[in-house]
Amino acid sequence: MNELDSLVESATQLFAQSATPADLENAKAQFLGKAGRVTELMKGMAQLSVDEKKSRGAAINVAKQAIEAALTARRQALADAELQIQLKAEALDVSLPGRQRGQGGLHPVSLTLERIEGIFGSMGFDVAQGPEIETDWFNFTALNTPEDHPARSMHDTFYVEGGTPEAPNLLRTHTSPMQIRHAVQHVKKHRAALDAGQPMPEIRVIAPGRTYRVDSDATHSPMFHQCEGLWVGENVSFKDLKVIFTAFCRTFFESDDLVLRFRPSFFPFTEPSAEIDIQFQTGPLAGRWLEVAGSGQVHPNVVRNMGLDPEKYIGFAFGMGPDRLTMLRYGVNDLRLFFDGDIRFLSQFQ
Ligand code: DAH
Repeated sequence: MNELDSLVESATQLFAQSATPADLENAKAQFLGKAGRVTELMKGMAQLSVDEKKSRGAAINVAKQAIEAALTARRQALADAELQIQLKAEALDVSLPGRQRGQGGLHPVSLTLERIEGIFGSMGFDVAQGPEIETDWFNFTALNTPEDHPARSMHDTFYVEGGTPEAPNLLRTHTSPMQIRHAVQHVKKHRAALDAGQPMPEIRVIAPGRTYRVDSDATHSPMFHQCEGLWVGENVSFKDLKVIFTAFCRTFFESDDLVLRFRPSFFPFTEPSAEIDIQFQTGPLAGRWLEVAGSGQVHPNVVRNMGLDPEKYIGFAFGMGPDRLTMLRYGVNDLRLFFDGDIRFLSQFQ
């Protein structure tokens, strides 16, 4: 092996031994730098004749190019290795399972409200929504509830800012104010027809929503749900209330032999009034009377407050507790579980 071949050989070897780009640049300087061995060889040609310079110069150039080629190859190899290390460090395992995202679902009481709306909707009832902060007028006065009625006492009602000392604002204690609100809207909408002596389309509505009372134990929560029902027309009777409410209960509980009982009661806004009890014939609750709603014929004063003539229009109303219906349907015995927000409880209803 001649001198130039062994020079290329030792350069290639030194390059191969350079483990980092910095090492490699140092190795390069030993051969191609200003004081490098190739440069020394060039300088050594000074004494040669012109012909010798030509052939010697050409040979040195071939060696120089070989060394440069080896350098380039090694640079590339080091860069590739660096890239591989980086890729490995940043590697994503696309075959790993994704992080679990909890699947949400409706609250059991929301499921009940949807069910109530679906069933009454199929019987031609609209669904109305109204404010949870109410005026004394809609919550009590318009519903024929006298000033001295116990339901007005501080113990039952959450009063809030606003209104006047005589008529303070409050958190609605029931959904019954929606009877007035909805009927007034309905009457307004059909005012022209009414004034022209034409028949008014019947009011058939339910109003589900949150209600509030100062009360808390296993069967009472300060926030609870109610669903109001109202049916007003010229030819409505107690029979209609019984028919629709029976159909509702049997559909809601998927129980055709469920029995209803209308037990005489008192509410300021109905006369006569009745509590509605149900009885299952089978299952864990069979044979017991369970109260599910208040109901009655809308009091003439309330019909008047709706803007209608009580001599002409007759109404039937009911108010039920969706929370209690949910407890009965799923066999839950503590109402507070619904509002604690514990996923372990709530997820069982999905
Ligand atoms: N508002 C009553 C309550 O909260 C329930 C009720 C009774 C509603 C009779 C009605 C009704 O519409 O006719 O206890």
